[in-house]
Amino acid sequence: MKLYSGIVVAAIASISIMIVSTPNVYAEGKSLFASNGCEGCHGHEGAGSVGPRLAGQQEKYLIAQFKLIRDDERTTGLSGMMAPAVKNVSDEDISSMAAYLSGL
Ligand code: HEC
Repeated sequence: MKLYSGIVVAAIASISIMIVSTPNVYAEGKSLFASNGCEGCHGHEGAGSVGPRLAGQQEKYLIAQFKLIRDDERTTGLSGMMAPAVKNVSDEDISSMAAYLSGL
C-alpha cells in the first residue's frame, strides 16, 4: 500500500512537471533567442532578416540545422557568417529556442 501511494505521488508529480514545463520552455526559448543575439540576424521573433525566417519551422529541423552550422558541418551559403556567433550555445539551449520558434 505504501509503495502504491508512492507511485501515485510520483505519477502526479511528473504530470505536473509536464504541464508546468511547456510554457517555461517557450518563455526560456524566447529569452535565449534574444540574449544570444539571434534576433540581430534572424529578425524579431525569427521573422527573417539577414538570416532566414525561423518562425514556424519544424522543431526537429531547426535543432538539426542549428547543430550542423554551429559544429561547422553545414558550410553552404552564409552559414559561415553565423557559426562563430553561436559556438557557445548548448544543445539544451537550442532545444528551448526551437520549441519557441516552431510554436510561432
Ligand atoms: C551573424 C548572423 C547570425 C546570427 C547571430 C545567427 N544566425 Fe542563424 N543563420 C544566419 C544565416 C545567414 C543563416 C543561413 C545560412 C545559409 O545561407 O545556409 C542562418 C541559418 C540558421 C538556421 C537554419 C535555417 C534553415 O532554414 O535551414 C537556424 C536553425 C539558425 N540559423 C538558428 C539560429 C539561432 C538559434 C541563433 C542564435 C543562437 C542564430 N541562428 C544566430 C545568420 C545568423
